[in-house]
Amino acid sequence: ATERTFSIIKPDATRRNLTGKINAKFEEAGLRIVAQKRIRLSRAQAEGFYAVHKSRPFFNDLCSFMTSGPVVVQVLEGENAIARNREIMGATNPANAAPGTIRKEFAESIEANSVHGSDAPETAREEIAYFFSGIEIVG
Ligand code: CMP
Repeated sequence: ATERTFSIIKPDATRRNLTGKINAKFEEAGLRIVAQKRIRLSRAQAEGFYAVHKSRPFFNDLCSFMTSGPVVVQVLEGENAIARNREIMGATNPANAAPGTIRKEFAESIEANSVHGSDAPETAREEIAYFFSGIEIVG
């Protein structure tokens, strides 16, 4: 079925001017960028977005990293978009990511791993709504 997923191009990738190369990977895989904006996350926005990881040892560093530079927040649409995007991104830790994936090609570390993507339909809905209103999404 046609689905929507939420994506973030992270500060390590915007810093290295990789937005276009990462978007090309999405488009080549059949995902359509139906909403997109470049923003600088506040600390509160980052902490709210990653609230599910609050008790993890990496939470503070993660929020510092995510507020260290611009990010590009996106809605991607396509057939099985959630799973498809997770394939294109590759494993969270670039050391474990398959050849040709975004994280294998571009990520610097498990923290600076270039992209975020929703892991399930319910989180996709929540994450999209965290950053976008309905009229900003043009399918
Ligand atoms: P993301 O998909 O954005 O979700 C949580 C993020 O935490 C993850 O990608 C990584 O960038 C970051 N992170 C940092 N350290 C770890 C870790 N040890 N395990 C999982 N995620 C980590």
